[in-house]
Amino acid sequence: MCEYHRMEGGPRPPNGGITSIGDVTIGRDEFEDLVAEAMDAIPEPFASALDEVAVVVEEHARGDMGPLYGLYIGVPLIEGGLPSGILPARIAIYMHPLIDHYPHRPDMVEQVRITVLHELGHHLGFDEDQDPVLSAIHGRRSVGRVRAAPVAREVVEELLDAAVAAPNHKETAPWRFVVLAGDARGAVGEAHAQAVARTRANLTPEGRAKEAALLDRAPVVIACCLIPGEDPVRAREDRDAVAAAVQNLLLAAHARGLGAIWRTGTMTDEPEVCEALGLGPRDALVGLVYVGHPVTDGETAPPARRGAAAHTEWRGW
Ligand SMILES: Cc1cc2nc3c(=O)[nH]c(=O)nc-3n(C[C@H](O)[C@H](O)[C@H](O)COP(=O)(O)O)c2cc1C
Repeated sequence: MCEYHRMEGGPRPPNGGITSIGDVTIGRDEFEDLVAEAMDAIPEPFASALDEVAVVVEEHARGDMGPLYGLYIGVPLIEGGLPSGILPARIAIYMHPLIDHYPHRPDMVEQVRITVLHELGHHLGFDEDQDPVLSAIHGRRSVGRVRAAPVAREVVEELLDAAVAAPNHKETAPWRFVVLAGDARGAVGEAHAQAVARTRANLTPEGRAKEAALLDRAPVVIACCLIPGEDPVRAREDRDAVAAAVQNLLLAAHARGLGAIWRTGTMTDEPEVCEALGLGPRDALVGLVYVGHPVTDGETAPPARRGAAAHTEWRGW
């Protein structure tokens, strides 16, 4: 059982901090019991870290801090922990935002538990950037320049297993992957060159050769194809699922230290290319994912942070 460090938090309202939201009436003492209850359910390694941290309940965060549920103040262990003479690390749990947003007791207990875990994570030196999933999502970039060195087949299999873990309504498995390496890339490249020659009368032999060699830009090119359902709604959802699979593939490649890029352009619409890949008339080539060991000459742009705020409308918050 975790020890709950009751400390003097923020000022206690005279009526015991009784608050009514909807049909829930709760006082400060009872809320502190909820915090203790939530802390009892905290797993290791967080539970042990609780011994080093004072958890206090306060009414709400300082006015300029927004509606926070909790706040960690201290020196994370990863940065050396507590220098002598410094107050112990402290986690404040803010009662009012939690009551306002979670008036149903079990939901609140769960949110308190999540909040304490989150703040303890800061104490243990974790931050959002160290979550492997978030760090892959934010760290991935399209990598167009890769080395010619081969990629092990087992690694490619791992990427494909990640791809098919994508969400897929009705589990239709609408994807098909054609994994091209060596000369197989040239065969599809040749089909593309034929398509270009068909539409571009002034194509020079050099230009044609360049088009035919486009797939040689990476040692492995994965043609990510859609085999859609008959129903139009299903077909649309199937394409969405393939797009999600491609993203999984890119993230898995990134996680394995590979460079990858999703390419489309005219090539993915060319009948010659689709035929070379064995696609039927209703099927589609959603993307060609080029995979290889990245060229580490610093050319790849650092991960950009793109906030969602400009693209998001919040309703009912
Ligand atoms: C459907 C789709 C098609 C793409 N086609 C191409 C392409 O043909 N050529 C290319 O260089 N990049 C292509 N990209 C990659 C985007 O250009 C790239 O994702 C974008 O510049 C953002 O960079 P990032 O992936 O590093 O975040 C494509 C991406 C998507 C989602």
